Amino acid sequence: MRAVRTIAVINQKGGVGKTTTVANLGVALSDAGRDVCLVDLDSQSHLTLHLGVEVADGEPTIYDVLIGECGVSAAAEMLKPNLCLLPSTSDMSSVEIELSRREGWELSLRRGLEAGRDLPHEFVLIDCPPALGLLTINALAAADEVLIPLQPHFLAMQGLARLLDTIQQVRDHLNPRLRLGGVVLCMYESVTKLGRDIVDEVRDFLAAARGTATPWSDARLFETVIRRNIRLAECPSHGKTIFEYDPRSRGAEDYTALRDEFLSLYPAGMEA
Ligand SMILES: Nc1ncnc2c1ncn2[C@@H]1O[C@H](COP(=O)(O)OP(=O)(O)O)[C@@H](O)[C@H]1O
Ligand SMILES: [Mg+2]
Repeated sequence: MRAVRTIAVINQKGGVGKTTTVANLGVALSDAGRDVCLVDLDSQSHLTLHLGVEVADGEPTIYDVLIGECGVSAAAEMLKPNLCLLPSTSDMSSVEIELSRREGWELSLRRGLEAGRDLPHEFVLIDCPPALGLLTINALAAADEVLIPLQPHFLAMQGLARLLDTIQQVRDHLNPRLRLGGVVLCMYESVTKLGRDIVDEVRDFLAAARGTATPWSDARLFETVIRRNIRLAECPSHGKTIFEYDPRSRGAEDYTALRDEFLSLYPAGMEA
């Protein structure tokens, strides 16, 4: 059996490219023949909509998994034989209140995923809401590593520092194996000095952490940057990933390159 890599895609800022990255990286990985399970942990259901999945009334979702009402296999929508989605609906907006009443709420997602090993699951990518609330803590408690989409923005480094602090706390208290896998720059505009400055700042910061005992001591700044591309902004409303919507766009090119760089870290045949 191949090792399972559970990757939480996190940034507490909204609109930085989390959902776009989970959808397009996820589908690109499945197109390369890898087994992928995507998890929509956001009550806005953007990932579910982006993948064109409609959840009928009464069908189980990730909400039911989190509150222990059903297993992941019952909630999973199979999009291809090697690609599934644990969808979300607006029900999710109340799940944090529901979870907060429960002992051990932090481990609700981990328990659910561990019980669902019959799904495609070589890579589990979790799309997180734009907050460091109970759902994001659940994702961090369930994950092996974190992928941070970062939009070059003047407060990006402050946001990153807060996020790293949360990762450290979850590692200390809930999940000792948690590490930062990497940072990927999204909506990148090479013409702006700000974009280039942020690349340098993140690269220097990660280089300075090499060999330290922090969860980001071996994190990478992906060489691939996701450029701002209008086709990426258009495809969610068609319920399509960029590969179906416009396979010749820069967006498709960038997410293919990200997939290839990502896979170079996890060669096929990696054993559990
Ligand atoms: N590289 C990009 N170029 C242009 N638009 C993008 C790009 N990446 C994402 N978008 C668009 O920006 C918005 C926010 O992206 P999204 O992935 O939903 O962010 P998040 O999940 O972090 O809130 C969406 O409308 C999305 O279609
Ligand atoms: Mg999102």
